[in-house]
Amino acid sequence: MQSIPGAAERERSVRGKTRGSLDRFERSNRSLAGGVSTGLRRSARPYPLFFSRGEGPRMVDVDGNAYLDFALAWGPLILGHNPPEVSEAIRRQAALGTTFGAQHELEYEVAERLVAAVPCADLVCYANSGTEIVQGALRLARAVTGRPRYLKFEGHYHGWDDSVLVSYHPRADEIARFDGEPVPVGEGQLPGPAVVAEWNDCASVARAFKAHGREISAIVCEPLLANSGSIPPEPGFLEFLRRVTRESGALLIFDEVITGFRLAYGGAQERYGVLPDLATFAKAVGGGTPLSVLGGRREYMEKIAGGSVVHAGTLNGNPISLAAAKAALDLLAAKGTEGYAALRCRAERLREGLESTLGARGFSVSTCGDGPVFSLAFAARPPRNYRETLCASQQLYSDFALAMLDEGVLLLPDGRWYVSFAHRDADIDETLAAAARAVA
Ligand SMILES: Cc1ncc(COP(=O)(O)O)c(C=O)c1O
Repeated sequence: MQSIPGAAERERSVRGKTRGSLDRFERSNRSLAGGVSTGLRRSARPYPLFFSRGEGPRMVDVDGNAYLDFALAWGPLILGHNPPEVSEAIRRQAALGTTFGAQHELEYEVAERLVAAVPCADLVCYANSGTEIVQGALRLARAVTGRPRYLKFEGHYHGWDDSVLVSYHPRADEIARFDGEPVPVGEGQLPGPAVVAEWNDCASVARAFKAHGREISAIVCEPLLANSGSIPPEPGFLEFLRRVTRESGALLIFDEVITGFRLAYGGAQERYGVLPDLATFAKAVGGGTPLSVLGGRREYMEKIAGGSVVHAGTLNGNPISLAAAKAALDLLAAKGTEGYAALRCRAERLREGLESTLGARGFSVSTCGDGPVFSLAFAARPPRNYRETLCASQQLYSDFALAMLDEGVLLLPDGRWYVSFAHRDADIDETLAAAARAVA
């Protein structure tokens, strides 16, 4: 049985230098439910850390420990922490007013940039979170088709609304027990309208359409399955989804909350050359502020423009988020194809370096992903769908991530790594040296 050497000492060492975080976590628990602002953060080992600042590729915790950050706030920080142009834009706007509940120029200035960047977007609209905007997309698909249900893939995450929080990370026994029906993630959820299929499995999609095709308004997917193993679409799979939806009169929705402005400036639809009908964005688009975007073909978006499909929200299009987005989009657009290619190269060097460093110590590891988002797993082969991710050892990864934390490298608990434009070659070298020590 493989194990990460010195796991217990690593835990003691991290606890020893993060006492300030533990004090604050205990205090926070007394008033804030669970001591965290989103449940997923609770799984951090040894406990959720508290941070005081971030700069470029690094974050500093309340005890003064600095970490090279590959969690990047779960994805938004494609430009790294605190990019000066974005922070300055926020400061300038804050001095003029934080929200108006009325029109302002940034709304169309950002929309013009989005329409130019996103291949499928003739028109866009705003909300504040990925969860909200996916609901908008699904509502629009129901309105366009007059059908009540939608198809999603096992392991894909589309926010925490009842209707989509199903079959996200089901355990093997749940998969067997629910026998093809959507598996709810938590208590209190209403049974939803989802039909669930397997990622990269054309036959399971064809079966779902055969059984429910007349009821399915849309297929929604992460065009690269970042939330479960960072699994890219196999060649031809997105094209197959495009064909099936066209033939059945359903819409194709790409949930680009993670892939947007990360896989390419135009997102996964630019990178993979498949045009969805609608696409949703959050995370990177807001430059680290709450902003989400729905973009799509004019003939569909006209329903929102005309008001027959309701789209609302007090803080939608707030000037702080849009000032940040405008600055972030200008920085990202200026990177150009060359800048994105360099980011991809750097991420690939990290990924290959991790495989060889851990492989040289006798660990059976594999990576999966596409450029600046990939996953590292203690498993012999990269997965092709969510079920295959269940073969990887969670314990080994968790011990590895803790050892990396002790070495000053911050990772997400689920194996996913995000690389930003702020990471330099020297940061990759530092990380690979830390990985070598973590398994030495
Ligand atoms: C692909 C995808 N869609 C939707 C969401 C929900 O976004 P938010 O957390 O902003 O509600 C997420 C969040 O991680 C996501 O990864």
